[in-house]
Amino acid sequence: MVMWSKIVNLQSNTKNQMLDKVHNLINEVKDFKATSKDEIEAFRIKYLGSKGLLKDLFAEFKNVDAELRKDFGQALNTLKKSAENKVNELTNTIESATEHKNIYGDLTRPSEPIELGARHPISIVKNQIIDVFSRIGFTISEGPEIEDDWHNFTALNLPEYHPARDMQDTFFVEKNPDMLLRTHTSSVQIRYMENNEPPIRTISPGRVFRNEDISARSHCIFHQVEGLYIDTDVSFADLKQTLIYFTKEMFGKSKIRLRPSYFPFTEPSAEVDIYWGLKTETDYRITKGTGWLEIMGCGMVDPNVLKNTNIDPEKYSGFAFGMGIERIAMLLYQIPDIRMLFENDVRFLEQFKSVL
Ligand code: DAH
Repeated sequence: MVMWSKIVNLQSNTKNQMLDKVHNLINEVKDFKATSKDEIEAFRIKYLGSKGLLKDLFAEFKNVDAELRKDFGQALNTLKKSAENKVNELTNTIESATEHKNIYGDLTRPSEPIELGARHPISIVKNQIIDVFSRIGFTISEGPEIEDDWHNFTALNLPEYHPARDMQDTFFVEKNPDMLLRTHTSSVQIRYMENNEPPIRTISPGRVFRNEDISARSHCIFHQVEGLYIDTDVSFADLKQTLIYFTKEMFGKSKIRLRPSYFPFTEPSAEVDIYWGLKTETDYRITKGTGWLEIMGCGMVDPNVLKNTNIDPEKYSGFAFGMGIERIAMLLYQIPDIRMLFENDVRFLEQFKSVL
């Protein structure tokens, strides 16, 4: 009896030793460090290889007493998992370290591709307009956004107290003498005529400002393109032909109509409508069911404006026109709200990537 219990004790001792051994191995695995792939491989073979420690220990399993099997099994699984994790962990660390070394080691390598942005729709349309007019000899001219009263109003035949000044609600920067944010690009006409002799053929794209409520259709900042043509014998027919050329090139449509209008700096003056058509529901909506769409103002340069810039109205005549870039961009790209053009939402802007 005594003998027998001794044997059992001896056996359970052996089993406990086995369990201790596995626990020691788990700790050993936990503490293992390696600096090379070879070391990791040796470690893997030692624990997980086909003749490795785990294989032997699992083979011991059948000799373990039933009541100890659960603990022994769990410990073995922990050991196996820890060894596997250790191998993965160390391999990752070593690989990313070598990757870094390579990155800084080879400075001639091709760089990461830089994602290209898109042009802003206002720039796209502005460039298209410039392109169309430069093909018929128009140059590009620019002027300041902060203007004096003379260039924005007075020289354009809009003397002080002229009621037409109310048409354009102005942001003043200074009063007496007045400095203001230009309300239109027509100011550049004056600057150009002051500094150049006819023949003049120029377009002036730029930003303009008006004290207007912001809504889906209007904004206090927007862009215009001004056009000016001065030479001997320039007639209304030249203006009309230029407009037909422009609408054909820009919109692929050449049916236009000129509605009599009023601008202080042109006489006679007109609004230009193009026939957009009524094919789709959008056509109905944007043309309010008429098929016609207003796209710009124009006219023959008023002799007073020529006089104001020292150009002889007896010798020269000319035409001018002005259009809003936002309006055209909204039309071409079916943009429902002008504010989208100023919010800089990347999801909106990205959509213009394919247009140059
Ligand atoms: N300056 C005008 C505006 O802002 C647009 C315009 C109309 C310009 C007729 C012109 C023109 O040169 O001839 O409403």
